[in-house]
Amino acid sequence: MFFKKNSMILLEGQKMKLIIVENYEEASVEAAKVMLEQVRSNPKSHLGLATGSTPIRLYELMIADHKLNNTSYRDIKTFNLDEYCGLQSTHPQSYHYFMNKHLFDGLDIDLHNVYLPKGFGDIQENCDAYNALLDKNGLDLQLLGIGSNGHIGFNEPGTAFESKTHYIELEESTRQDNARLFFNGNIDEVPTHAITMGIQNILDAKKILLIACGESKAKPIQTLVEGQMTIECPASALQNHQDVVVIVDTAAASLLTKK
Ligand code: PGA
Repeated sequence: MFFKKNSMILLEGQKMKLIIVENYEEASVEAAKVMLEQVRSNPKSHLGLATGSTPIRLYELMIADHKLNNTSYRDIKTFNLDEYCGLQSTHPQSYHYFMNKHLFDGLDIDLHNVYLPKGFGDIQENCDAYNALLDKNGLDLQLLGIGSNGHIGFNEPGTAFESKTHYIELEESTRQDNARLFFNGNIDEVPTHAITMGIQNILDAKKILLIACGESKAKPIQTLVEGQMTIECPASALQNHQDVVVIVDTAAASLLTKK
């Protein structure tokens, strides 16, 4: 197989669509096409959403489109992947706060239709409640980033592919990654635990859209696209899914070698 820039590749034997573009901006534009197609074709879509640095530009494009084209989110429901434990939704580093700031405040979404796992109080109860919610509301599209260690959501290496929403201890590398981008660079401020949708919850989505940019994502992308399925790279579970779109920039694609 030959990989070239700005190309879309249907991987043989898999349902995975790989789109390789030049940079983060182009990746965000491609991702926005997939997202907006979903929202426009079904204005009552259930969207699984993600946080982190990767989706920020996509969210800006969604807001710009909403303002320009009046694409409405009034009847859309959203379900986020994960949340830090111990941070209230008003904490500036909570994912709830992130979503309000980077997406929800710019859309006409009804905040009653917005769901995130709750990272405080009785966590097991919160996990059970989130699983029940996801079972009741199937996801039409799940948006994902990928960790430099191959995690999706906060499903760290070693997480069972059958996992549902659960409590998890974050790897040191994940806390370092997140401290570099958020928390003023201070790892001591990054919570040690989180609540995350499980890999099975993610696989239950009808369609999956994963975006990866930058050199630090090259290794997990190589495993996802060309490697064996292994719980050491949670993203590799997506190889079994029927409808996955993976959008990568050239840096994240740099270790792809398959002929
Ligand atoms: P990032 O994180 O978008 O900040 O790189 C991705 C992830 O951890 O899933």
